[in-house]
Amino acid sequence: MVNMQIPFVNLSRFYLKHKDQILELTDKIGQSGVYILGDAVEEFEQDFADFCGAGHAISVGNGTDALALSLTALDVEKGDEVIIPANSFISTAGAVIEAGATPICVDVEKDQNISLEAITNAISKKTKAIIVVHLNGNPAQVDEIINEFKDTNIRIVEDAAQSIGAEVKGKKIGSFGDCGCFSLHPLKNFHMFGDAGMIVTNSVETANKVKTLRNHGLINRDTCEVFSRNSRLDALQASYGKYLLPYLDEWTNRVIEIAEYYNDQFSGYFYTPKTRPFTKSVFHNYVIQTSQRNELSDFLKQRGIETKVHYPIPICHQPAWKKHSLPPALIPVVERQKDEILSLPIYAELTDTEIEYIAKNVVKFFNERNLYREAI
Ligand SMILES: Cc1ncc(COP(=O)(O)O)c(C=O)c1O
Repeated sequence: MVNMQIPFVNLSRFYLKHKDQILELTDKIGQSGVYILGDAVEEFEQDFADFCGAGHAISVGNGTDALALSLTALDVEKGDEVIIPANSFISTAGAVIEAGATPICVDVEKDQNISLEAITNAISKKTKAIIVVHLNGNPAQVDEIINEFKDTNIRIVEDAAQSIGAEVKGKKIGSFGDCGCFSLHPLKNFHMFGDAGMIVTNSVETANKVKTLRNHGLINRDTCEVFSRNSRLDALQASYGKYLLPYLDEWTNRVIEIAEYYNDQFSGYFYTPKTRPFTKSVFHNYVIQTSQRNELSDFLKQRGIETKVHYPIPICHQPAWKKHSLPPALIPVVERQKDEILSLPIYAELTDTEIEYIAKNVVKFFNERNLYREAI
């Protein structure tokens, strides 16, 4: 096999496909003289809400702000506890700290999504919210979690940063909880050309609160109702977003096609991503689990294939966790997975030749070592 070079992401390949329209939109916004919020942002928000099947979408500066402002809008504050999965990106915890509350890390299932049993065990009198992260684009059991806590005051925030377009029983992720939070960072499966985030909610009251919170807490030009941050979206990103959104289903279908091809090629070798019944994963990451993780990653690197680990350090093992004197967590599944998970390249711009090259090399690694049918 001739060595190919396959980066984990290839954003410039993405840009070149849309370059003419992006340049045209940049010029249009430049000439409009409106660069922050305004019509372009409102139009994108409406399209995003429609895409998610949610009543309202409110844009913010990034996915972390989407989480932090949602928590604040839902009255999460100092003294409250918020349950999160220990294996998410650190900003899930950072947002809880920003809202003034205490994050409580819990364990996950084999599919890397938060465990309902672990949540139940972590509930205390102080629990004010649960952040359900749909990791890797794969829906967590959000409907069961909502059902379990429907008769309580516990708020459910979906961290849908990695899962735009994913579905449970035909309903879009993000539209289940009190708020659904999205990151449109360049490394996300639907992304802008810079930082951006979105909150979706079906509550007018929450939508209005978030709108105030993202704009310094101002209720009009001169009156500040509550001190808050600046987390407004700019018109350029919104205009790109409005242009790109209609392509999302096409990209997602291609990514699902690649995931299905990988699943087929790797069947029986090791744990491949599993999706719950009646759910649609959008495979933001294609994460395998194998005891040969480090060796496989080195083998692929030597053959020009870049891989990543999402994430090697559980949140409650981060130095920042200690610094804030946050409580320890019992997370045996996360502890094991952190040494076994490996994300392979998966994005719509990969060619058939590239995905075949990746799959052949993965299979070659296991065959050369007689590791067929490693325990799954
Ligand atoms: C699960 C998860 N939550 C939150 C975020 C935060 O998003 P942002 O980087 O836009 O602040 C990310 C992005 O990396 C993420 O993956």
